[in-house]
Amino acid sequence: MSKQKESWGSRMGLILAMAGNAVGLGNFLRFPVQAVQNGGGAFILPYLICFLLMGIPLLFVEWSLGRYGGKLGNHSTPYILDSITKKAVWKYVGVFGIFTNIAVVAYYTYIESWTFVYVFHTLFGTFTEMNQAEISTYFNDYVGLKGTLFGMNFLPILAYVAILGLNVYILSTGLGGIEKVAKIGMPLLILFGIILAYRGWTMGDDFASEAFPDANAWDGINFLWTPQYSSLADPKVWLAAAGQIFFTLSVGMGSIQCYASYMRENEDIALNSITAGFTNEFVEVILGSAIVIPIAAGFLGLDWVMENAGFGMAFQTMPYLFQQWGAVFGVIAGVCWFGLLFFAGITSSLAMGTPWMGFMHDEFGWGKIKGALSFGALALVMGLPTVLFYQYGYFDEYDYWAGTVSLVVFALLEIILFAWVFGMEKGWEEITRGADIRIPLIYKFIIKYITPVLLLMVFIGALFTPQGNDWAGALSGLFEGNGWTLDNSSLIAKITLGDLKAQLALNPDDSVFIEDKMFYTQMARSQMIILFVFISIIVWFSTKKRKLEGRL
Ligand code: PHE
Repeated sequence: MSKQKESWGSRMGLILAMAGNAVGLGNFLRFPVQAVQNGGGAFILPYLICFLLMGIPLLFVEWSLGRYGGKLGNHSTPYILDSITKKAVWKYVGVFGIFTNIAVVAYYTYIESWTFVYVFHTLFGTFTEMNQAEISTYFNDYVGLKGTLFGMNFLPILAYVAILGLNVYILSTGLGGIEKVAKIGMPLLILFGIILAYRGWTMGDDFASEAFPDANAWDGINFLWTPQYSSLADPKVWLAAAGQIFFTLSVGMGSIQCYASYMRENEDIALNSITAGFTNEFVEVILGSAIVIPIAAGFLGLDWVMENAGFGMAFQTMPYLFQQWGAVFGVIAGVCWFGLLFFAGITSSLAMGTPWMGFMHDEFGWGKIKGALSFGALALVMGLPTVLFYQYGYFDEYDYWAGTVSLVVFALLEIILFAWVFGMEKGWEEITRGADIRIPLIYKFIIKYITPVLLLMVFIGALFTPQGNDWAGALSGLFEGNGWTLDNSSLIAKITLGDLKAQLALNPDDSVFIEDKMFYTQMARSQMIILFVFISIIVWFSTKKRKLEGRL
């Protein structure tokens, strides 16, 4: 709407902001857990293939879509997609690119607030007198909001609101503020990561103890880096690998398109997007894999890691392990770790704020302050329940639908739009215009055929995951006329709460808790649906407005 065009300050700023967008909590918290749970070396190969065949192509497509839309004054996916084709339905597909950001930022900033609080716990020595079990309980009590003031701990809520407020503040300063945070945060994050990774690579079996005589950091590293080819035939591992690639590269979200829409018309896409993408992979695969797993294996042994791999390790186990490095280095390591997580988190959560702000600016002329505040308000409405009802899986529900399923659905639709509706000839011309490097021509073919087919397979695989993830057995069973039994982790079973119902049947004693969980799961879903409908209504309204103004 406003004529003056906002854009990135410099090429370096753009790359760092894009890398900051991608490098996030996913690199340090999600990747190691996914890798361990999917067999270590068995995971890496499908993961790297997904990077080459889905990640990179989607980066090209999203950067191109963004730059193309931005040229026409559109900075969020509803009208970026609309600038490709005038079929109204695509505007509503574009709603995903605002919706997911708000739903994900709601819980993402919550984790961000833990990392912030834990930096101070490390500095103030909160954990020094505690043993491993106590540190672990401390975390459970924190997220369980257990405390003494009216029987509650308000700190997690306050810290969450404060961190959300910080995000809102930075967003209100516009692209310049985001660029500044990326310029400070990214180098620090890499420095902290290198310090910790160096420790991970060099600790060997120096810290084996009586309780864990076999502990050796190298076991962790070898576990991840000894490729196992058998997994190539296991759809479950492929699904996990694809999911991780999406999340870590931030594709299928709408935030890359939004960042790219602030590029100049002929600015390079090929080299910039590859640089940002590879930076993310360096941080994930080299640094991300050299910290939690080797360090935990170095103290507790690989068996322990395989049994306990989970999200909590970062907050429950690491603070204890760092202390074994002595008073001084222990604190340094703790600050590096939680500081790194904090910077990784904030450069990503800022990215999630921009599609909404861009949309409200384009359509309704909202300024940065109004845009940032309204984004904060939406995130808060979505996020407070995840804080209050964390225990009941509110958080997981958002992560599953908005942070996983939506990404695949949106990516599939947008690549079809780009390669088939816009057309691959025009698409290729967009990707390569202004390019500083030559992209291998094979990517034209990959974008048109391979990526969409793989995406479709991932989606169908998730919809119909057979019982026990046993595809071979399920397929032959199907041909023998035995039907198809869905696994409780399949998308369809999730919709009907199959997983929780199965839990209920197995643990009747726990019925009160599980029934509560069902209730909150439905609440979380309702909130997401309401958010989606809310944004769709605004899009619908903006269309009317554009028509009135003769802008359509
Ligand atoms: N890529 C980020 C991570 O690895 C998450 C993210 C997703 C950020 C989507 C922005 C948009 O944590």
